[in-house]
Amino acid sequence: MKLAQLVAQTGEHEATIQVLCHLLEAERTNVFLVKDISNEVAEQTIKIIEQYKNGTPLAYLLGSTYFYNRKFLVNENVLVPRHDTEVLVDLAEKKIIADSIIGHEYTPYRILDLCCGSGIIGISLAYLCDWLRQRHKDLQYEITAVDYSQSALELAAKNAALHHADINFVHSDLLEDVPQQFDVIVCNPPYVRTMDIGVEDKRTLKEPRIALDGGVDGLFFYRRILATAKKNLRANGMILFEIGYDQAKPLEKIALQLGYHSVKVYKDLANHDRVVTIRV
Ligand SMILES: C[S@@+](CC[C@H](N)C(=O)[O-])C[C@H]1O[C@@H](n2cnc3c(N)ncnc32)[C@H](O)[C@@H]1O
Repeated sequence: MKLAQLVAQTGEHEATIQVLCHLLEAERTNVFLVKDISNEVAEQTIKIIEQYKNGTPLAYLLGSTYFYNRKFLVNENVLVPRHDTEVLVDLAEKKIIADSIIGHEYTPYRILDLCCGSGIIGISLAYLCDWLRQRHKDLQYEITAVDYSQSALELAAKNAALHHADINFVHSDLLEDVPQQFDVIVCNPPYVRTMDIGVEDKRTLKEPRIALDGGVDGLFFYRRILATAKKNLRANGMILFEIGYDQAKPLEKIALQLGYHSVKVYKDLANHDRVVTIRV
């Protein structure tokens, strides 16, 4: 069967390409070059796309997805990584690079991926730290990743092994069992208002509620984290939060009320407020 015929049958162009990449273990461009898709592969694709159309995220059906062009294992115990989170990682990278150029005040330089889920943030930053270490042998980095979900931690550890990332995984209710101080805390907490879950995209109903539910106003986790985070931040430390498009102002208010400084807001590619950075 030709690709165009299969797409016509599934009615889903992008999802069909992604499924074929997975089943054929092929690069995206090579999928377009396949002259004849076997009946077996076509049947498997149609089956997967049916489940996708019924509301299951494609990443769960394929068992993996891509973040920053790197492949990560995903299952129904973790949030499906979103491209928006790359903005958060970009900004964390800028801070880590800037601090590394100046030289680390404390050794090792400590990074915390709080609410780590599948581990995409900490693992992406581990690639940067490896790269920096190769250039400056004196620099040392320590990455910790925290989640309350044991099954998320198990999957994150598998992803870390897959990417040869050296990360300490800690089971903790936010910062409760985290005694160390960090130079950077990166956090994509649950921030969807309880009543909004599943409203924009029914597929989110298949994702773990613990990964999405940010309470009545979506700000529950920011309040809890900021209430205690000062004890976990070094003098020049920064906390970077991913936020919903309308949460910058209320989060800024919470941070300033709690005595934090230098609150900055950054936008994503769609020009929505997406990340807030806060200093002690
Ligand atoms: C929005 S997901 C982010 C996952 C991942 N960092 C990402 O960006 O794809 C939020 C994560 O917070 C975790 N979480 C929820 N409540 C928590 C708590 N009290 N303490 C630690 N982690 C928590 C969830 O299990 C989930 O993995």
